[in-house]
Amino acid sequence: MNGAQAAGDVWDRNDLKLDGGRVIDRRVYRSKDIYQAELAQLFTKTWQWVGHESEVPAFGDYLTVQLAGRPIIVARGEEGRLRAFYNSCTHRGAMLATAAKGNCGGSFTCMYHAWSFDTAGKLESVPKAEAYGAELKKACYDSPAVRLDTFCGNIFVNIDGKAPPLDEFLGASKQHITEATEGQEVLGRVRWKLEGNWKLWHDNFRDNYHPMFTHQVLTFLYQGVEIKGENHDLGGGHSYMKFPPQGSGDSYAKFVQRLTGRAYAGAPAMGTPDKQAYHVIMAVFPNLDIQFGGGNGSPYSSYSVLEVVRPISVSEAIIEIVAFGHVGEPEAVRQERLESLLSIQTSSGKVSADDTEAARRCTIGLGASEAMRWSNMGRGQAPGMSGAKNDEYSLRGFYSEYKKYMGDILRSENN
Ligand code: FES
Ligand SMILES: [Fe+2]
Repeated sequence: MNGAQAAGDVWDRNDLKLDGGRVIDRRVYRSKDIYQAELAQLFTKTWQWVGHESEVPAFGDYLTVQLAGRPIIVARGEEGRLRAFYNSCTHRGAMLATAAKGNCGGSFTCMYHAWSFDTAGKLESVPKAEAYGAELKKACYDSPAVRLDTFCGNIFVNIDGKAPPLDEFLGASKQHITEATEGQEVLGRVRWKLEGNWKLWHDNFRDNYHPMFTHQVLTFLYQGVEIKGENHDLGGGHSYMKFPPQGSGDSYAKFVQRLTGRAYAGAPAMGTPDKQAYHVIMAVFPNLDIQFGGGNGSPYSSYSVLEVVRPISVSEAIIEIVAFGHVGEPEAVRQERLESLLSIQTSSGKVSADDTEAARRCTIGLGASEAMRWSNMGRGQAPGMSGAKNDEYSLRGFYSEYKKYMGDILRSENN
């Protein structure tokens, strides 16, 4: 339930005199103990998006990812099956693959002493093994499997193996993940390091209050228009915001010109006809965001972009942005999508650079948390789980679920 609180929750005793579901205790962005608990209780116990099947279509294709400090390989085997296992040699621990993605040719050979593993992490060969005599029980040296499942082509892994089935975990977000990624493939990824707590980035995606003020490239779209749209807590920590494009066709032309420096010559054919004009920003618990939409007559119609943020310390995170395109689109359209992504949503993109700066300012500002412990996320007064575009049901839904995973550590006064 939106804003659900445990009895005796210290968040209820906040200085802002708000319901504890309407505030954020700023320690969640700064406490090293809370960060360690997030790794142990959140990132290992939830399903984590790691890639899309289109990125690993053939036998031997693999991708690598680091989750909660654990290096993981996802590889496609001979029979077409995807498997995940630890990217760590069972001999002395060296990584088996260092590239973000590639093709292993059927096996991963460790660079250190050349032990070799198949696409399921099974130890295949050990050079000069006779020196081990009968001691070397090869079956004890397979790299342990990591639980893997897919939904609509999206690959998820669960480190502790005990999360609910993926379908159940994704819950009400499934319908929208399907809308965003069905019939699509990954065109490319961009990643960069955020100097800030991972939740600052994820909060920002659930926050539709800021764009009209933060993003100078967008502000004029909001002038003199009635702001419409929806903001939903979908339950399970997932959220969904849907809104029509702001501004008119003319203002979109101006927007494109500002972004690209080129005159806007009208929307190119994007492969999929525009049916409906809308933007969606959805968040999948705990650290995945998907933006998609279509039909506004801009070159960015029928787009899908996915973002995942993974912490590497309490104050640093890797942000990865993944561009999708419809299967079978012309090369020129794919190029346009990638260029749009670079100009809008990368570390130097005209929108994401603002969000990065907001996170940086929050990170420094939160240094004053001892003097001011609580942040407000109380927008939207209608009871229930849904409100208007700029409300914060989406944020409250995240922290309600976050509290369930984090448990007692948030109720302690001493982190
Ligand atoms: S650490 Fe991999 S073979 Fe020795
Ligand atoms: Fe933003």
